[in-house]
Amino acid sequence: MSTLADTPLATDFPCLRREGIVYMDSAATSQTPQSVIAAMDDYYESHRGTVHRSVYALAAEATELFEGARDRIAAFVNWPANCTIFTKNATEALNLVAYSWGRANVGPGDRVVTTQLEHHSNFVPWHMLCQQTGAQLEMVEVDDEAVLDLDQLDALLQTGTVKLVAVGHVSNAAGTINPVQEIVRRAHGAGAVVVVDGSQAVPQMAVDLAELDADFYAWTGHKLYGPTGIGILHGRKALLDAMPPFLGGGHMITSVSVDEIRWGQLPAKFEAGTSNIAEAIGLGAAVDFVAALGMESIRAHERDLCAYALDRLAELPDITVMGPLDADLRGALVAFTLDIAHPHDIAEILGSSGVCVRAGHHCAQPLMQRFGVAATTRASFAVHNTRADVDALVDALHDVRKIFG
Ligand code: ALA
Repeated sequence: MSTLADTPLATDFPCLRREGIVYMDSAATSQTPQSVIAAMDDYYESHRGTVHRSVYALAAEATELFEGARDRIAAFVNWPANCTIFTKNATEALNLVAYSWGRANVGPGDRVVTTQLEHHSNFVPWHMLCQQTGAQLEMVEVDDEAVLDLDQLDALLQTGTVKLVAVGHVSNAAGTINPVQEIVRRAHGAGAVVVVDGSQAVPQMAVDLAELDADFYAWTGHKLYGPTGIGILHGRKALLDAMPPFLGGGHMITSVSVDEIRWGQLPAKFEAGTSNIAEAIGLGAAVDFVAALGMESIRAHERDLCAYALDRLAELPDITVMGPLDADLRGALVAFTLDIAHPHDIAEILGSSGVCVRAGHHCAQPLMQRFGVAATTRASFAVHNTRADVDALVDALHDVRKIFG
């Protein structure tokens, strides 16, 4: 049993103090601990000022809090702070790469490779890029356990035309943990740039970006116990330096005249306009929260819950679980279908007994099409969940079977 299992962490999350809530939708959005709310309150109540623009004490304090958060966020994943860009969310981070790097580097005859596991945020921007540039979009497929076929990737790389490989670190719909470091190694061997969507990975496991060696790595704050409205793009300095800005406006320039505009240094060049200051500070506090628990302990705890859920769900005779059945190969979520009921009906019945899960295509329609389903029901786990929560899920699913059986 992992150490986190004995810690009553739910009390750290004000929303979970509500009676009768069993929250298992952290893959969609996580709950927010008191320390994160307090950090944002502290900014609004005691240090409310703009960042980078003014010299009075409030603004200087706000800048220190904001840049301090960036430093801690960057150190948390082992990447330089000046190549760690605040965005609105992971979707915006991926679009930044697709628009800024993609439009400058991808053209007719090139291939952009994505996978059947991708969330739409790591699929649609590449689809749009290919439509607009005349490049060819390719999709690496998965096997029956939703594991990527790397032979397909190799075959594409061998064409010598792949400019970019876009892959998720952990699938939000099947749970599969992808061998990202190996994918980066193979893609770099063929001269391709790699962008990784780490939205599900960063909250669940230790991520060392220097070791992974991807060129771009995007993730979002609200799945890491942080606020909504803040995402991160880590990029390789040489690529970021060579890229044009994504959005134009204040802060991202060094000088503007009617004839010429000079871009600012990193990361300002990609942070046009006033940033989401409180949200960045909140995400800094969220990183402190998980770092204090330890990412190895978090992974061990959530792996245990996932293994327990896979065991208990097997009690249901008509269940089909999507993704790898070995908890070592999957992140902290289990998505499934029951033959007797639609995923939305299941989620509604579970919701009426306080069990919060997501039903739908999880913004991963190519994957749903691969498995011939329109939707699944998904339970996802976080630091505050316990085996008792999994028991509540399984009990509620037995109730669903009684209603529909
Ligand atoms: N990506 C989020 C999810 O999987 C929205 O639910």
